[in-house]
Amino acid sequence: MTPGLEGVVVAETILSKIDGAGGRLIVRGRPVEELAEATTFEGVAAFLWRGSNGSDDAEETDLRQAFAGARSLAFDRVAELAPLWRGLAPVAALRLGLAALPADARGLPPRQLVAGAVPVLVAAHHRARSGDPPVAPGPSLRHAADLLRMLRGERATDDESAALDAYLVTVAEHGMNASTFAARVVASTGAGELPAVVAALSALEGPLHGGAPGPVLDMLDAVEAAGGPEAARRWIEEELAAGRRLMGFGHRVYRARDPRAAVLRERVARLRGTGAGRLDLADAVEREALAALARHKPDRPLQTNVEFYTAILLDALGIPRDLFTPIFATGRVAGWLAHVSEQRRTGRLIRPSAEYVGP
Ligand code: ACO
Repeated sequence: MTPGLEGVVVAETILSKIDGAGGRLIVRGRPVEELAEATTFEGVAAFLWRGSNGSDDAEETDLRQAFAGARSLAFDRVAELAPLWRGLAPVAALRLGLAALPADARGLPPRQLVAGAVPVLVAAHHRARSGDPPVAPGPSLRHAADLLRMLRGERATDDESAALDAYLVTVAEHGMNASTFAARVVASTGAGELPAVVAALSALEGPLHGGAPGPVLDMLDAVEAAGGPEAARRWIEEELAAGRRLMGFGHRVYRARDPRAAVLRERVARLRGTGAGRLDLADAVEREALAALARHKPDRPLQTNVEFYTAILLDALGIPRDLFTPIFATGRVAGWLAHVSEQRRTGRLIRPSAEYVGP
């Protein structure tokens, strides 16, 4: 028996390779650092779904138009959804909104509809719970820029939009994680994109997958309250002495620094000119945390993971911390849908076995 299926290979994939020992992530043959620099969310979706070159080209423009159409179609549903959203947390509201999408939408292929709808539903739910009217999507904007605009009610700067775009590209695809596996299980039954994505999204509702960036910010707040960067070492030692884990460190697969952490840190650094970000504090906490983890767990290489700088970047963009998980889904949906296609093309009904230990 292999609980958690750790190390069990259930598919061949051309979508990504994670080199945990070397700290490298290769997406369809390209290092994640290069992709985040070269392309946009539309570009990475075209790259993952169609194998285009992932740079600004006709495929990217095509998807840009398709996503704009999908955003507008999803917005048509917002008035009906608003009363049903009352009291729901952001991921649950997104799940409900996706499940309510029409299966056949003005000729839009399902994966374009689903990926295109996500930011509209996230932003409209957030505004509804804040008592603000929804903001209609802008057909000429890129996905990332439009998401920020629909959340805030006004256009973000180009630097901010580019930073969010880089985030969406960076998290778009990451192998056979829990949500992607959930999507593939559903797709393996012959079900369509929508149910597969709803299943994947549901896997993000537990705290063990996709849920650490909020707690990373809680940790930075606590260090700040304790006295700022100079207090980081003492605060971290106290946490470890109390047997608690440091959020944003360690990973099931990476034994070296998660390459996505570097990409996102660099993006926060570029935003600094605008006065955004808490990079000095984050750098001090990262430095002290790595030193403390090396002292406490000398046999276990514990490094910074993607969630650490996700928290700093999304916070710098003014995104509330309980939206971090649905914003992650806005990027990852491209990977989920690529796996759904791959599962359909090459897979088989996923049906493992259980050892009976009952009476
Ligand atoms: N802080 C302190 N100690 C840690 C941490 C941490 N962040 N991570 C692991 N350890 C310790 C464990 O306590 C354990 O010690 P022990 O052997 O003395 O009991 C040892 O290192 C190994 O821990 P495992 O749970 O086996 O590590 P695993 O690789 O399975 O867990 C996980 C990975 C869950 C991410 C873990 O590192 C963790 O809880 N990190 C903090 C939460 C976090 O940042 N989550 C986001 C992960 S990234 C993502 O989801 C995309």
